[in-house]
Amino acid sequence: MKATAKAHTNIALIKYWGKRDESLILPMNSSLSVTLDTFYTVTTVEFNEKLTEDVFFLNGEKADHTDTERVSNYLRAIRKFAKKHLFAVVRSENHVPTAAGFASSASGYAALAAAATKAIGLNLHPQELSQFARLGSGSACRSIYGGFVEWQKGVKEDGSDSFAVPILHEDDFPIAVLSVMVATNRKKVLSRAGMKRTVETSPFYQGWLDTVEHDLSELKHALELRDFTLLGEIAERNALKMHATTLGANPPFYYWQSATMEVMEAVQNMRSQGIEAYFTMDAGPNVKVLCLPEDEQKVYDQLKQIPSVKKIFTCHPGPGVTILPTGEADV
Ligand code: ADP
Ligand code: DP6
Ligand code: CO
Repeated sequence: MKATAKAHTNIALIKYWGKRDESLILPMNSSLSVTLDTFYTVTTVEFNEKLTEDVFFLNGEKADHTDTERVSNYLRAIRKFAKKHLFAVVRSENHVPTAAGFASSASGYAALAAAATKAIGLNLHPQELSQFARLGSGSACRSIYGGFVEWQKGVKEDGSDSFAVPILHEDDFPIAVLSVMVATNRKKVLSRAGMKRTVETSPFYQGWLDTVEHDLSELKHALELRDFTLLGEIAERNALKMHATTLGANPPFYYWQSATMEVMEAVQNMRSQGIEAYFTMDAGPNVKVLCLPEDEQKVYDQLKQIPSVKKIFTCHPGPGVTILPTGEADV
């Protein structure tokens, strides 16, 4: 009753922002992301009849109450489905900063979904696995697949048609994503709380809803054409629009720091010099710069000059979730 899984993070090009159902994690809008090769989580789950509660270790340390409770609530749904009422030890290693806007909840819950369902004896089709991952963190449903992935929001109340579908394989459209680290501390407003406050209080949220499905269909068109310029323009626009909704919330909030804006400006300056680079940010201050692989060194060199930039990770489209041989990858 033990299994280990590895899942990569993803960066949204069209953002998931807002839930229509908070317990089933059903989104207001469909979204589209690219899974990244550099950042990932490895999670081992072992169900054991001797345990009297779930135990969660994150990066070698016993996790705090809030993170443990979220994992335990999640395992409850898996136990119920599998009709096996056993507690588990979960050991997870994030090869990505936790809760800093690098999508640790995506790789974390995709790896947990795969390891926990396998350990409890379920053999799921990827589409079912994507739905299970969604219950842990919405963005996790996209990390089941590699490459470019769409999360179709679905229309049903039970969530049975809300899951991710692969759009392009990781080798089908080579792009570079430079993940620019400006801060690694845990964010004050978690994605979950941030989108809830925005949906409930921001007058700008309706503007998001009115335009996001159009952005998505344009982005899918750009993928079909392998049109990087179109992809970058839409992704940058969509990211700015999502972040703008948080400024209208009550109380207002934003995820940017001054270094975030310095990177954004540097990217726009590069474009005026004729280098094709675009930015996007998830719920955090760190910036992901999109460019073509042939420009990645040039873009890296320019970003490196910004004093507030701590580190730059050069990422490319990466693979979907995998089960690792138990024992070998124990963490
Ligand atoms: P991020 O930008 O990193 O996705 P979120 O606000 O979406 O930040 O989610 C952060 C939360 O995700 C953490 O507080 C924790 O509860 C959960 N999380 C992160 N990594 C893992 C992991 N490896 N296993 C289980 N839960 C995780
Ligand atoms: C801005 O999937 O982390 O990164 O479903 O509440 O766990 P929960 O939120 P999460 O939200 C991600 C928001 C985003 C955009 C995106 O990844 O699509
Ligand atoms: Co997240």
